[in-house]
Amino acid sequence: MSAKLQDQISNESPVNLQLNSQGRLRHFLSIKGLPKSLLDEILDTAESFAGVENKPVKKVPLLRGKTVINLFFEASTRTRTTFELAAKRLSADVLNLNMKTSATTKGETLLDTLRNLEAMYCDMFVVRHSDSGAAEFIAKHVSPHVSVINAGDGSHCHPTQAMLDVFTLRRHFPDLRKIIITIVGDIMHSRVARSQIHAFKTLGFKEVRVVAPKTLIPADIEQLGVEVFNNVDKGLRGAHAVAMLRLQRERMTGAYIPNEKEYYKLYGLTPKRVELLHDNGIVLHPGPVNRGVEISSEVADGPRSVILQQVTYGIAVRMAIMSMAMQH
Ligand code: CP
Repeated sequence: MSAKLQDQISNESPVNLQLNSQGRLRHFLSIKGLPKSLLDEILDTAESFAGVENKPVKKVPLLRGKTVINLFFEASTRTRTTFELAAKRLSADVLNLNMKTSATTKGETLLDTLRNLEAMYCDMFVVRHSDSGAAEFIAKHVSPHVSVINAGDGSHCHPTQAMLDVFTLRRHFPDLRKIIITIVGDIMHSRVARSQIHAFKTLGFKEVRVVAPKTLIPADIEQLGVEVFNNVDKGLRGAHAVAMLRLQRERMTGAYIPNEKEYYKLYGLTPKRVELLHDNGIVLHPGPVNRGVEISSEVADGPRSVILQQVTYGIAVRMAIMSMAMQH
């Protein structure tokens, strides 16, 4: 995180910031602390949007007259495009600000950029940033009518990804309370894993397991109520789903694994390891996928993989979150 921005980001919990005085969603920054009822509402609302792409008219007018700005300070394929599609299907006007060619490269502060964008009468910022806490910082400084959605901040959280993962799981296993799920990979640096754990625990999953080498497991992870395994085969046995994670090389500052070949041997998801799952077990991955590092191509493209379903469902889930936040 840049020292300048870190100075300005407080450690205050974002929960109150996310909800208005009636407990309705205003910003969507983190899953931690949000009530189960609100997560259920997101999933049920998303259900009503799923399949809209198969209808002759793909749009609903819920965000007509509203302007959404995608502020992506970090690379993205899936999240940025599905947010754009979601906003367009809700009939919003959407602007994608290219941060590489924006005035921030000339030294403009984040706050000055925000003030200028607000002066264009925007209603929602969708923010991805490499600094943990960046979306929360922006939410603290926007005008009362503006909503902020976190599209991934550093290694902190990626709440819309976790909700689309839950939505995908619910499509396969309608009773979430019966699900045993195993998260495998770089838990230490993963914003996806942190948000998934909060979502799975809040929604009452039967068991949440995490598997990684000791170097990639945060010291206090058990406090989140997960079962920790260092052996991948033991962690996968009988699970209804496995959520694979990419090695977050861009966030690693030292040598956490011997090498990628060894990592694949010890933790990679191979067809043989998939057989350890429950008979109907499924394979999730948020993408981007590193084939041959955390997962084999055979598994990523195989019959148990729901990786592309996750992308498709991401549109409906993001439509739900944006429409709920705009009603605040
Ligand atoms: N899952 C995910 O966040 O992918 P992108 O980085 O492509 O948005």
